Amino acid sequence: MIVQTAMPAASASLAPDLPVIEVEGLAKHFDMHHLGQRLDAFSGIGFRIMPGQFLLLTGHNGAGKSTLLRTLYRSYLPQAGHVWLNTAEGRIDLARAADVDVALLRRREIGFVTQFLNARPRVPAEDLVAEPLRLAGRPAAEALAVARAALAEFGVKRELWAAYPSTFSGGEQQKVNLARALILPQRLLLLDEPTASLDAGARAALVRRLAALKAQGVAMIGVFHHPGDVAGLIDAELNLDNKETSNVAK
Ligand SMILES: Nc1ncnc2c1ncn2[C@@H]1O[C@H](COP(=O)(O)OP(=O)(O)O)[C@@H](O)[C@H]1O
Ligand SMILES: [Mg+2]
Repeated sequence: MIVQTAMPAASASLAPDLPVIEVEGLAKHFDMHHLGQRLDAFSGIGFRIMPGQFLLLTGHNGAGKSTLLRTLYRSYLPQAGHVWLNTAEGRIDLARAADVDVALLRRREIGFVTQFLNARPRVPAEDLVAEPLRLAGRPAAEALAVARAALAEFGVKRELWAAYPSTFSGGEQQKVNLARALILPQRLLLLDEPTASLDAGARAALVRRLAALKAQGVAMIGVFHHPGDVAGLIDAELNLDNKETSNVAK
């Protein structure tokens, strides 16, 4: 049997001249009823990202970076604006999409990576990592082989592959999390400080993986604890302190 261990190709590609995501006039605030106060996270946000482009989000603590990513993932509903996604099913406004459609988009089109692993009891690391591929219809043996290659790439020791991540150290859990989150290329990848407190080897593995995804046309929006790591991948920067986008000269 020939086991293919290469990373899978990107899901159905769109015309390369169509933006992956177009954000218009996006605003989010939190009503803190117990305090009778309103907290503006951001407003008037707009940008568009083409396939293979990488937008770096910057700003001080509390500037609204995580809130913007969560709004783009539709964990939060915005109060105003549009989040147009060009998907296999056509153009969809995530700011208005039904929850069932959002759930489907998260499986097929939008990935979200944080530094936290959602370890489930009695699920071995390699099965957790292989799961997105199996759900996408890849044969189990092939999915497992790709998962093991990804665990090796992120520096998870072989003895741990069949063990339960709930018992792993924080750093080991982060590596399993990255292997899983990045195993199936999606059209849009959102990253919220995925490298905070990772060792240099795993950070380098992440950058290699992101570069490969970018070359496959995956669009990325990310906040990075060490922005220098991804300097070579950045096409534009959005600073939430002054809410201005600027193109980064290459
Ligand atoms: N669920 C929430 N309810 C109320 N306020 C929130 C909520 N989430 C974030 N905030 C507030 O929104 C602001 C932006 O937070 P956040 O997006 O986490 O900032 P960053 O990621 O840039 O550090 C902060 O003032 C934070 O306290
Ligand atoms: Mg944050």
